[in-house]
Amino acid sequence: MIGRNDTCWCGSGNKWKKCHFPDIGAQKTVTPMPYGFEKLSDQYYKRYGIILKTQEQIQGMRESGKLAAQILDATCKMAAIGITTQQLNDFAYKLHLKAGAIPAPLHYGEPPFPKSICTSVNDVICHGIPNNRTLLDGDILNIDVTCILNGYYGDTSRMVLIGNVDEEKRHVVDVAYECLMRSITILRPGIPLSDIGQVIHSYAENEGCSVVTQFVGHGVGIQFHEPPQVYHYRNPSNIPLTPGMTFTIEPMINAGVKEAVIDDADQWTARTKDGKPSAQWEHTLLITETGHEILTPWNKEPL
Ligand code: MF3
Ligand code: CO
Ligand code: CO
Repeated sequence: MIGRNDTCWCGSGNKWKKCHFPDIGAQKTVTPMPYGFEKLSDQYYKRYGIILKTQEQIQGMRESGKLAAQILDATCKMAAIGITTQQLNDFAYKLHLKAGAIPAPLHYGEPPFPKSICTSVNDVICHGIPNNRTLLDGDILNIDVTCILNGYYGDTSRMVLIGNVDEEKRHVVDVAYECLMRSITILRPGIPLSDIGQVIHSYAENEGCSVVTQFVGHGVGIQFHEPPQVYHYRNPSNIPLTPGMTFTIEPMINAGVKEAVIDDADQWTARTKDGKPSAQWEHTLLITETGHEILTPWNKEPL
């Protein structure tokens, strides 16, 4: 464990606290840590409340992640014109029970979330509550599944296109997908957490889209939402990624303004302020010794 007054690992000769000490605002440049450094500092992660997973916990998360991805794939295949989001919810609920799992959203939070999955249509950014509205030609829909299997959480979501979808919606769906996948490719020990937001923000901006800042990704595994928060926008949070970290990346990308408005009546549904469409894709990720592993491997193809 390096001390605040020790010489920084980066070779600058400066004290760690004045150089790459990973507090918000401490440094803005992106310098990967030398391989091996991250293994010295379990204490450091504990201070942030980050739970580095053991091999046994990782195996448990592989299983819950795989199940979440399977439930998501099956539920997405059912989404079509004339189907209600309530029907998708009921189908997903049954798949959880059949596998001996619990849907994490059900009764989660305050006020308790009333359903087993989130279904977010068109201008709904996230946390849409399944209901009796039927899916219509031209809708875009995010389905978000989080299951608890043997005590381990797997959290994943993806978009589905219903019938003929217009160009603006298709664009935001594609940009959000690219944001997720591009940010996953860079994951390995030593890079600062802030690189994720940097990659997502610059790609989305270039494509004329905005990044939602009111909701973030999160550590996951033993609990639904663990530290750290995973920002999808430019930020100075340079906690270095390290093997055993498990977290989600789940960029919410808007065609118009980034601002979200929470529904007054249900206190969950988050919609874009300007009514323009929004899209989101989410994976649960593990940082490995050499890179990363996607713990929720769904197939993009059935889309
Ligand atoms: N699955 C969502 C996430 O990605 C959280 C949903 S909370 C709920 O973090 F209560 F709305 F289900
Ligand atoms: Co999540
Ligand atoms: Co989710």
